[in-house]
Amino acid sequence: MLFSPACERNREPILAVLRQWLPAGSPPAGITVLEVGSGSGQHGVFFTQQLPGLTWQPSDQAAGLDPLQERIALEGALRPAPGSRLLPALTLSVDDDHAWPAGPYDAVFSANTAHIMAETAVAALIAGSARVLGPGGLLLLYGPFCDNGVHTAESNAAFDAHLRSLDPAMGVRDTVDLHGLAGEHGLESRADVAMPANNRILIWERRG
Ligand SMILES: C[S@@+](CC[C@H](N)C(=O)[O-])C[C@H]1O[C@@H](n2cnc3c(N)ncnc32)[C@H](O)[C@@H]1O
Repeated sequence: MLFSPACERNREPILAVLRQWLPAGSPPAGITVLEVGSGSGQHGVFFTQQLPGLTWQPSDQAAGLDPLQERIALEGALRPAPGSRLLPALTLSVDDDHAWPAGPYDAVFSANTAHIMAETAVAALIAGSARVLGPGGLLLLYGPFCDNGVHTAESNAAFDAHLRSLDPAMGVRDTVDLHGLAGEHGLESRADVAMPANNRILIWERRG
């Protein structure tokens, strides 16, 4: 199974943000979250164990689906919080409009994906999220970001250079561009939460 040490380190700080921003789910309706680029699936397992009334829909590109499904099959039913469940993963490449589920979701969550995706895919992630969110729904994007070309830490600048040396299409994304894209798709900025290790969670709300 895929295992991400970073997921283990960042899951508690992310959980604290989810507790604050996702209204407490009350069965039977609860809270529905679509996760984009779930990777190892560790976040979905942990958050459905910690938050009640949460239906978490993991997803990833076809190439990453097998190890993700394996974790969900092995750990998805381990001690979920009351009324919470981790669903089998969907195949979702953000650039494929037809692959997006219908929604509506209360939130879309994506961690450490924007700097891996090409800029066109980041735009597709934001557009697709806006389509599947219900009015008042939230897009939460976790990772390192820069502001108007300025990195918030030397380590993020080095990470950005490293990514671009591996593939010029990758790179730490700029909040100015992200806010511009979000605004074009009816998403209003609600918060920019500082996280450990120079990461952040950007939160937008789908206008009604
Ligand atoms: C660095 S991993 C992050 C995984 C996990 N979210 C985490 O925080 O550990 C980046 C993820 O983005 C996914 N990804 C990359 N391009 C994508 C695309 N175009 N559509 C959907 N997912 C994509 C990859 O398959 C991978 O699972």
